[in-house]
Amino acid sequence: MQTIALALEPHPYAIHVGHGVLSRLGALCREAGLGRQVALVTDHTVAGLHLAPAAASLREAGFAVTEVRIAGTDAAKHLRTAEEVFGRLIEAGLDRRAWVLALGGGVVGDLAGFVAATFLRGIPFVQVPTTIVSQVDASIGGKTGVNHPLGKNMIGAFHQPRLVCIDTALLRTLPRRELVAGMAEVVKHALIRDAELFSLLERDIERIVGLELSPDELDQLIAANARIKAEVVAADEKESELRALLNYGHTIGHAIESASQYGYLHGEAVILGMIGAGELAVQRGMWPAPERQRQDALLARLGIPAGLSRLSADLIVERTRADKKRLEGRHRFVLPRRIGQVEIIDGISDGEVQAAVAYIQHQHP
Ligand SMILES: NC(=O)c1ccc[n+]([C@@H]2O[C@H](COP(=O)([O-])OP(=O)(O)OC[C@H]3O[C@@H](n4cnc5c(N)ncnc54)[C@H](O)[C@@H]3O)[C@@H](O)[C@H]2O)c1
Ligand SMILES: [Zn+2]
Repeated sequence: MQTIALALEPHPYAIHVGHGVLSRLGALCREAGLGRQVALVTDHTVAGLHLAPAAASLREAGFAVTEVRIAGTDAAKHLRTAEEVFGRLIEAGLDRRAWVLALGGGVVGDLAGFVAATFLRGIPFVQVPTTIVSQVDASIGGKTGVNHPLGKNMIGAFHQPRLVCIDTALLRTLPRRELVAGMAEVVKHALIRDAELFSLLERDIERIVGLELSPDELDQLIAANARIKAEVVAADEKESELRALLNYGHTIGHAIESASQYGYLHGEAVILGMIGAGELAVQRGMWPAPERQRQDALLARLGIPAGLSRLSADLIVERTRADKKRLEGRHRFVLPRRIGQVEIIDGISDGEVQAAVAYIQHQHP
């Protein structure tokens, strides 16, 4: 097991990463000084696969566990679901010393974290992420929340977990489509901050999505990525310059998600978004074309989703205008300077975005 320390004031916390670390969950939560009563929130799929060992480890360590299952879809990441979970916590008699444990992907983590942030004005919570997206991204950094019918992640709170416990063995039950989508965030991390990780991905991408890595190799990969997220969060807890770099590929990515009415998984849309951002950077002369080729070749080996030409380019461009990062009518993008280094670029025109979207549609119809 490796431990990454996230030095956030006033509550620093540990991120434990290891194959099989779930069996030590109860002991780790005891060491973290958490109260006796815990609400373990998970989704139906994860419950069938991984709930029993998690709950057993907690009970062996003396915790009283209330199991709460929700639907694990973004449509269920909703205030109504949160309200149902609040009801379960109240019925179970949870008080201020109780805490919430999220066992699942980003949907469970965001919702359970939001419940913990708001129940009795805030109780502690622990993240046990079970997807690549949640192990390298969503479980770290304290962003919690739910969707509103008028927009994704519109309601939420910053609430840092007390502990993040990452068992990489849990990834072995993930469907391939989720693995590929999760790897989009790993490729993104490499592009923004870690040229060595990029080379490793070039060497091993098929073995990674084929789940052929050894337990040690998988631990190294996930820990390296959790560390990147943790470093960015530690440097910049409340989202300004540095944290904004994590949005590489996400401006066009979010627009594609929204324009397709969430027909793509988030990571799939980010793959397309990185191709678009790469084109923008090449057109601006800030990224050498051969490096862009390396990015796009790696993404092609991962699997670039088809069907984008069915969406209207105008609609995608229009949706990029709704981006929170837009300033005074011009677009703000995170663009590569070289592999491992990106920059925030302001003042990008609609026309440039239009051309980049046309490029993605032409290359990957
Ligand atoms: N808080 C943040 O900083 C942050 C960052 C990124 C994404 N998110 C949010 O995370 C959500 C997406 O999370 P996700 O990609 O983890 O998806 P998810 O939580 O929807 O999980 C994807 C699917 O995989 C299943 N699953 C989960 N773990 C499994 C396992 N080990 N084996 C088999 N199946 C498993 C789930 O039941 C679900 O069907 C979005 O709502 C997004 O907004 C939040
Ligand atoms: Zn993302």
